[in-house]
Amino acid sequence: MKRTIKDLVNLKGKRVLLRVDFNVPIDDAGRMLDMTRVNEAIPTIKYLSEQGAKVVLMSHLGRPDGFEITKSLWPIALYLMKKFPNKVHFSNHILAEGVKERIDALNNGEILLLENVRFYEQEEACDMDFAKKISELGDLFVNDAFSVSHRKHASIYGVGRILPNAIGLLMEKELHNMGLCLENPKRPFVAIIGGAKVKDKIKTIKKLIDIADCILLGGAMAYTFLVAEGIAVASSKTSIESVPVAKEVLDYAREKGKRVLLPIDHIAIRESDKKEKKEIVDFMIDDMIGYDIGPKTIKLFSDEILKAGQILWNGPLGKYEDERFKEGTFKIAKAIADSKAYSIVGGGDSVSAVKQSGLASSINFLSTGGGATLKFIEDGSLPCVDIIQEKIR
Ligand code: ADP
Ligand code: 3PG
Ligand code: MG
Repeated sequence: MKRTIKDLVNLKGKRVLLRVDFNVPIDDAGRMLDMTRVNEAIPTIKYLSEQGAKVVLMSHLGRPDGFEITKSLWPIALYLMKKFPNKVHFSNHILAEGVKERIDALNNGEILLLENVRFYEQEEACDMDFAKKISELGDLFVNDAFSVSHRKHASIYGVGRILPNAIGLLMEKELHNMGLCLENPKRPFVAIIGGAKVKDKIKTIKKLIDIADCILLGGAMAYTFLVAEGIAVASSKTSIESVPVAKEVLDYAREKGKRVLLPIDHIAIRESDKKEKKEIVDFMIDDMIGYDIGPKTIKLFSDEILKAGQILWNGPLGKYEDERFKEGTFKIAKAIADSKAYSIVGGGDSVSAVKQSGLASSINFLSTGGGATLKFIEDGSLPCVDIIQEKIR
C-alpha cells in the first residue's frame, strides 16, 4: 500500500508540491469543456489546505509546443478561486526569479497554481536538472494525477523521485478500483472494449484475456478483429497493419478458453448514398461503413453484462457523438447500469458518453484515466506510482 496524504503528519507550513492532472478537454479557442478532472482533485487540495500546508499545484494541459495562450492554466486558477475564495494564487512561471519567494510568502492553507509544466521542453524529456529545480520549491511531493502516471515526465516522475512523497485521495480511489479489477474481480468478469484506437488497445485486450472471463469488442476497433476472422467489413474503418496481431489475440483467447464476442450486426451507411440513410445489416457489403453495433449485438452483449459480477468498460461501441450512432453505446451503458455488477468505466470518450446518457450515477466508478488505465491493465502498475513510498505499517 502506498503512503497517502493521510499518513503525512505536521503539514502546517509545509510546501507541498501537488501534481494533478488538469488536462481537461478544450476546444480550439482554449475553452474548457468539462471540469471533471479539476473537480476530482479538489478533495486532496482541500485536505492539504485544511491541514495548513502551502499547496503548490502543478499540471500540464494539452501538448503545447512552447508557450501557447490557449493552453494556459489561468482559466483553471479562476475556477479554483471560486471553490476556495481568497486562497488561490497563480504564477505564470515555474522557474523564474521570485516564484520561490511567492511560495514562501503564502499563508498556511493557501494555494498557488503554477503555469502549464509542458510550456518547458524539459518536462517531457524528464530533464533531471529541471526536476531538481522544481523540487526546490517544495518540502514534499504528492501525486494525485493517476491519469498521467504512465508518463515519465519531470514534474511527476523526476520530482517524485527527489522529494519525500505520497499519493493523493483521487489516486487512492483510482488504485483501489484498478485493484478490484485486476487482483480479485467478482466473477464473471466482463470487459467491454470499443473506440477507435486499435493499436493502442491491442496489448490491453491481450492482458484482459488473462484476467477477464468474457470480452465484448465493439466500436471501430471491432472491424479489425472481424477482418482477422475473415468477415467482410466493406468500407468500415480498419487498421490493416493490426490484423495479424488481432488474429494472434483471438487465437490466444481460444487457446485460453476465453470468450471474445464480436458484433453480429451493424448500423451502417453507404459511402455513395448522399442522404446517408442508415441501415441495420448482418453483413456489410459494397461501400457500407459500420458506425454502430446493431440490435442483435446490443442484446448479445447486454445478456453477458447482466450476468457479470465485475465490469470494465473502455471505448464507445459506435460513433456516439453523432446522434444517429449513439444507440449502441447508450444501451450498453443502460445494461451496465441495470446489472448488479461492480462497474468501472475509463477513457475520456467513454466517460463523456456515460455522462451524456444520464446514467453516470448508476456506474460504480468513473475513472479519470484514459491511456493510464490501459497501461495499468497491461503492466499491473504505473511508473509514477511505483516511485511512491510504501506505507509504514
Ligand atoms: P476512449 O476515449 O474512451 O478511450 P477512444 O478514444 O478509443 O475511447 O474512442 C472514441 C472514439 O471512437 C470516438 O470518437 C468514436 O466516435 C469513435 N468510434 C467508435 N466506434 C466507431 C465506428 N464504428 N466508426 C468510427 N468511429 C468510431
Ligand atoms: C491524458 O489525458 O490521458 C493525460 O493527461 C495524459 O496526456 P498525454 O496523453 O498528452 O500525455
Ligand atoms: Mg478518446
